Amino acid sequence: MRPAVARASGQRGRGGVVRYTRALSRGGGTARARPAARAFAVSMSSHTPKPWGGRFEAPTDARVETFTASVSFDQRLARHDITGSVAHARMLAHVGVLQAHEADAIVTGLEDIRADIEAGRFIWSVALEDVHMNVETALVARVGDVGKKLHTARSRNDQVATDLRLWLRDALDTLDARLHALLGLLARRALDHAATVMPGHTHLQPAQPVTVGHHLLAWHAMLERDRARLGEVRTRVNVLPLGAAALAGTSFPIDRAYTARLLGFDAVADNSLDAVSDRDFAIEFCAAAALCMVHLSRMCEELVLWSAPAYGFVHLPDGYCTGSSIMPQKKNPDVPELIRGKTGRVQGHLVALLTLMKGQPLAYNKDNQEDKEPLFDAADTLDASLAIFTGMLEALEFDTQRLARAARVGHPTATDLADYLVRRGVAFRDAHEQVGKAVRAAEQAGKELADLPFETLLAHCPTVLQDVYAVLTVEGSLAARDHIGGTAPAQVRAAAT
Ligand code: ARG
Repeated sequence: MRPAVARASGQRGRGGVVRYTRALSRGGGTARARPAARAFAVSMSSHTPKPWGGRFEAPTDARVETFTASVSFDQRLARHDITGSVAHARMLAHVGVLQAHEADAIVTGLEDIRADIEAGRFIWSVALEDVHMNVETALVARVGDVGKKLHTARSRNDQVATDLRLWLRDALDTLDARLHALLGLLARRALDHAATVMPGHTHLQPAQPVTVGHHLLAWHAMLERDRARLGEVRTRVNVLPLGAAALAGTSFPIDRAYTARLLGFDAVADNSLDAVSDRDFAIEFCAAAALCMVHLSRMCEELVLWSAPAYGFVHLPDGYCTGSSIMPQKKNPDVPELIRGKTGRVQGHLVALLTLMKGQPLAYNKDNQEDKEPLFDAADTLDASLAIFTGMLEALEFDTQRLARAARVGHPTATDLADYLVRRGVAFRDAHEQVGKAVRAAEQAGKELADLPFETLLAHCPTVLQDVYAVLTVEGSLAARDHIGGTAPAQVRAAAT
């Protein structure tokens, strides 16, 4: 559930929950007064006191308030923001900057706010700009002045970098579980279809027969690398920025290793300037996510082709297709098409983040606020795509008869014949030439190479014996490719288990 965002004017309510009134209502409540009220609201500030307001005389322009606010999207970081703040407060008590009872009061207040947010009771304020200041303001409202001590030895710059890393770490763990499930399913389906034949293509032309299991294991190989890549990204994500403060570190005797331990970070960021400024970890994630989407997109492209009646290799489950509003016969592969389409937007997010970063001098710049929406959407899109692809694959039916028929079309065992001739003592280039001529004869006769009479074969390939037909069958061709990484059913079975 996404709670409403109040546009302005925070007020401290009773019972600790911060309530906000809408800016528009300040200009008068009647319908007639509305236009004037709206004009007022957009040109003037809400006068909400800002946590950073001390040096300002004039209020923030309302348009600036709206333009600079990120709370509509960064409230998604709330859980991680609170987790980070709890650890920070505990660390401050550990080193004696806060007293234990002060840290306790702060932690209790933060946990109450967490409960309010989770229950959808928290009201967010645009005037308070972002998730960090919303939570901190609510904390002070709830626990009083002690809440104002939480931000000691910290800046929103190291705070947001920490939140984002904590959020992304969770997202990576979810994606890892999704990929694990999909990889398991692919291996199971590959095992079921270890001996199911299908045409293998290059240039989308029939090339050599393969097994469906082998094809599914090719998908498996792509996604396995994606999973490893995302795992590597996680090691660089899991580094603690807190302690960098605004950019230069802090004069308080902080214990960063202590905070890192509390938050489950494997390391502490080495350089405070870098810690608050670089978003390379988000860029790396988007690169890995985009690549995984590209892989899913390629698989989906195949499913779109295979499910078209002209191919008829697979039946997509009804539940994963949609109809046409005009053509009653249609069953459209919307799900694979949409995954293919959504790949573009994840690639776009990668480019957006690269571009966001490229002109930034050290250290933190507000540009970085723009990192969140691409990052969130990249993770959401990949997560949703993996989930739906897995469901679709689970229910996918292979038409083994159509596949077997298609696997025989286009002289797919021509290479096997050439290899046979090589074993009979013919040099490969000569064998290639002889088989090419035999294929031409087959085309002229309107037959498949495997169906040519022995005399015709002999006319073009003078060294053939009667046993040549064993290598011309699809099954013979498959069984012959019996080495690691080959398509033989025995290899597929071994690879899938
Ligand atoms: N909302 C900000 C962001 O997302 C938080 C950090 C703000 N820091 C600052 N110095 N204005 O990046």
